[in-house]
Amino acid sequence: MRTVYVNGDYLPENEAKVSIFDRGFLMADGVYEVTSVLGGKLIDFGGHLARLERSLAELDMDKPEGFDDLLEIHRELVRLNGIEEGMIYLQVTRGAPGGRDFAFPDPEVTKPTLVLFTQNKPGLAANPVAKKGIKVISIEDIRWGRRDIKTVQLLYPSMGKMMAKKAGCDDAWMVQDGAVTEGTSNNAYIVKGNKIITRQLSHDILHGITRAAVLRFAQEAQMEVEERAFTIAEAQAADEAFITSASTFVMPVVEIDGAKVGTGAPGNVAARLREIYLDESLKAAV
Ligand code: PDD
Repeated sequence: MRTVYVNGDYLPENEAKVSIFDRGFLMADGVYEVTSVLGGKLIDFGGHLARLERSLAELDMDKPEGFDDLLEIHRELVRLNGIEEGMIYLQVTRGAPGGRDFAFPDPEVTKPTLVLFTQNKPGLAANPVAKKGIKVISIEDIRWGRRDIKTVQLLYPSMGKMMAKKAGCDDAWMVQDGAVTEGTSNNAYIVKGNKIITRQLSHDILHGITRAAVLRFAQEAQMEVEERAFTIAEAQAADEAFITSASTFVMPVVEIDGAKVGTGAPGNVAARLREIYLDESLKAAV
């Protein structure tokens, strides 16, 4: 049985409880982070912590008690659960005011809820899917306008994943005004020659921590990076396509809406970026 963390306590998972009045449960009034663990260490912890702080600030949510100890809490959960490869999920909500009201509760009275748990994924780095790539469909992006805040309102991305499954694919890329925003739970890229193209940062997409690292490594490896929007047609005609996220790292995309990308097999650029990302991130892991 897992040991999880709830508001200051490490508890067996079946004893960990959150109120039915919690605003995360009633209003999706919460934010989250997913940090991967490789070799028993945290990948890009600093990036995830900084984004969490930003998400909280954008929503006027107080930092939870324990915020300053988050590195220790992550490490303790890795230790207690013996995680070599996997993920740590963290969620902060605006707490449980003891009722339901659209207005935010008084932060002096209602304190944020902080929950963390581990997901053990042996073989995460050596994921065989990276060798064959994934297939995506495109769907309209009907999410709200602040996708840069990592909130727990994930119903539409979940529906997108189900639409993809129904179509015999692995994931969906979302499209707004004719251009790809991002994947349901990842950032989207195409490759043309030596150039990596990915949508520019704005309120329209999540500012991926893996994205930032991969673009930095790409530039250090003398690859060209262009941050701009692209269409599904442009992606289908590209040499390669791939996604990035904390749980998939760099994952090739080999088919978009039934059309093969490039040869229909994972490309060299994605493979190389995955290798560099894993190497460099492991070196910097805490
Ligand atoms: N998802 N875009 C969206 C919509 C995401 O949900 C995620 C992450 C990303 C990639 O961000 P990062 O590189 O920081 O993981 C982009 C996480 C992994 C999840 O929901 O499980």
